[in-house]
Amino acid sequence: MKLPEELLGAAQAYRKEIQKKLNIGHEFLYLSQDDVKSIPVTPAEILDRTERALIAYSAKKVDMPSKIALHPITDTFFHAMPAYAPEEFAVGIKWGSCYPGNRDTYGFPQAQGLIIYSDHLSGLPLAVLDCKYVTEIRTAAVTYTAIKYLAPGDAETFGMIGCGVEGRQHVKNIETVLPKVRTIYVYDIYEGAADKLIEDYQKNTTAKIVKAPSYEELVKNSAVIVSATVAAEGYHPVIEDRWISGGKTILLCEGHTLYQDSIFKRADKYIVDSREQVEQFAAYGFYPFGHPPIYAETGEVAAGRVPGRENPEELIIANNFGMAVEDMFVLRLLFDRALEHAVGLRLPL
Ligand SMILES: NC(=O)c1ccc[n+]([C@@H]2O[C@H](COP(=O)([O-])OP(=O)(O)OC[C@H]3O[C@@H](n4cnc5c(N)ncnc54)[C@H](O)[C@@H]3O)[C@@H](O)[C@H]2O)c1
Repeated sequence: MKLPEELLGAAQAYRKEIQKKLNIGHEFLYLSQDDVKSIPVTPAEILDRTERALIAYSAKKVDMPSKIALHPITDTFFHAMPAYAPEEFAVGIKWGSCYPGNRDTYGFPQAQGLIIYSDHLSGLPLAVLDCKYVTEIRTAAVTYTAIKYLAPGDAETFGMIGCGVEGRQHVKNIETVLPKVRTIYVYDIYEGAADKLIEDYQKNTTAKIVKAPSYEELVKNSAVIVSATVAAEGYHPVIEDRWISGGKTILLCEGHTLYQDSIFKRADKYIVDSREQVEQFAAYGFYPFGHPPIYAETGEVAAGRVPGRENPEELIIANNFGMAVEDMFVLRLLFDRALEHAVGLRLPL
């Protein structure tokens, strides 16, 4: 995909602005995870950028080849995730990994990686950064976008399965998209993670955060359910079809790992971030029983091209596996702000 000719002037002007703060071609910005976290951006800005990324993807206004994947050990992966968003003047690649055993074996979170962010006019590197925080905030923002259009706006109950990095970020600002939430149920196979989430976030919310005793209690009691656990190989469902009634909105960060396959097949609407990506992951064996018919992409719903929730009885499932365009849209904002606030370390090329 090419930069539209009419945007060339604006792109050159933007590059000149960068050049005033960074000597492109001679140095690049290195941003550690702490640096990235210290860049002043609001959750509303992240949500806005992420929603625009989903819409641009589904409108075919971005270039995003399929992820290149490696699976060195069972349940692990590396993904090479490039994307170019011409209208954002943003291009780069994330080299991300997920190693679910990391916490027990090495004492690190499962999701790791780096992003290289580049100048689309010259191809020169602009920044190298730790990808964890970008991934964390944009993934929750993707879920929030889906919730805005797919969940009942007056939902009073929310359930979070998995209380790690993603689970915590999802609970943190959930009231921005579920303003009437009164009870937040949380569940984790590692109880300490659920306890820590409650300890850290209960004081920031008027909703009551409750540790659910089981998957069954959580899914039966929650109108909107998000899971962020482990993208596991094989089929070992722990959430039974008979527990899931109509009207629920189920949002997945890790594919179909936790749920009985029949739940997906009987959903009234099954939505994904990328049709192409579902086919790719089907080829890797992620959908051993085939994926359900796809109603729409999240970006099509967010753009208003396809209706989201149409009645309170619908069972709606959104399977957003994550896309590089989300990283690039958010990164354009973070990069500009990092330069503006002199965040990060300049390193020679
Ligand atoms: N869709 C996306 O864009 C995207 C982006 C980032 C991460 N992810 C996925 O989200 C998941 C979580 O990532 P994270 O960074 O929060 O990892 P994390 O390791 O920080 O947290 C995962 C939590 O889930 C818990 N858990 C594991 N298996 C469980 C189960 N069966 N039931 C309940 N709890 C369980 C763990 O104890 C841990 O606390 C991973 O599968 C990752 O691949 C998706």
